[in-house]
Amino acid sequence: MADRVRIYEVGPRDGLQNESTAISLETKREFIERLVDAGLREIEATSFVSPRAIPQLADADALLPSLPTAPGVRYPVLVPNERGMRRAEAAGATALAVFTAATDAFTEHNIGMTVDESLIAFEPVLRRAADLGWWRRGYVSTALGCPYTGAVDPHQAVGVAARLLELGVDEVCFGDTIGVGVPTQVAALTDSATDAGIELRQIAYHFHDTRGTALANVVAGLEGGVRTFDSSTGGTGGCPYAPGAAGNLATEDLVYLLDATGYEHGVDLERVLETARFITAALGKPLSTKVGQAGGWDAATGRPIGR
Ligand code: COA
Ligand code: ZN
Repeated sequence: MADRVRIYEVGPRDGLQNESTAISLETKREFIERLVDAGLREIEATSFVSPRAIPQLADADALLPSLPTAPGVRYPVLVPNERGMRRAEAAGATALAVFTAATDAFTEHNIGMTVDESLIAFEPVLRRAADLGWWRRGYVSTALGCPYTGAVDPHQAVGVAARLLELGVDEVCFGDTIGVGVPTQVAALTDSATDAGIELRQIAYHFHDTRGTALANVVAGLEGGVRTFDSSTGGTGGCPYAPGAAGNLATEDLVYLLDATGYEHGVDLERVLETARFITAALGKPLSTKVGQAGGWDAATGRPIGR
């Protein structure tokens, strides 16, 4: 299992949430069906947040029940509060993610609460989800840097992660929300987390490629023993606080690296590339990710694949 990596796809949620082009429910469903066909098994499908905050995902109540059920496929949804939990339950969710950050300034801008207040708000949500037997993730955004307060000490991010684990999440995901992190920081964060008693299998990383460091950070995560990484097919999404900047690490770039390095993950690169073209076309954008442009590479023939 040491050479097996979990790819947690965030395209339908994190990828689409800040895109200004409205995407129809039908297109979202087809996007997710294609991701399942490509072999992705954990697909963050949507958010049960305020439709005023994230208009793109206002159709969550209708989208989630319309998704194909397939063995071993999980569709976590973002839930900010008890109201979101009631909506998620009604829509048939079985997995959720709550989201806070390492810094108060960021959570105040994002969800109108301090970190402490967010943890208080999550407590009944996570208790209810546990009673229902749902899988639970907790995000720690700004784990490698904050757009309002700058550098973040790893202990600060780890402290929030430890509290999320006390509240019963199965996994914590450290997010480099504005894409400022570098591998030395990732190594320090992993060490700090394991020193605090967090198990490697409870840790996921969510990198943004804003400054071209996402894959280097993945390698640092792998070397530290972490085996779960988030990515977005087509590299969509990103951060409203870094306008014009590249967003989420692209699933196609991650899959290429993992394939060539010899990690197993169960995801088919050519199908991911087809899906990346599908969703960027729907957004009216060019596919600008590295592997999206160059294709994969067949080591047996020397030729590109899936281009
Ligand atoms: N689903 C739908 N509507 C919700 C909701 C939910 N889970 N929670 C709150 N609302 C509605 C309220 O009814 C209210 O609506 P109104 O303005 O029409 O009366 C409005 O949202 C504000 O509610 P309030 O309780 O005052 O909360 P808030 O304004 O402090 O917002 C959040 C808190 C968390 C609901 C909101 O900031 C949010 O949804 N943020 C999402 C941010 C996000 O997804 N970021 C990207 C992920 S990292
Ligand atoms: Zn992201």
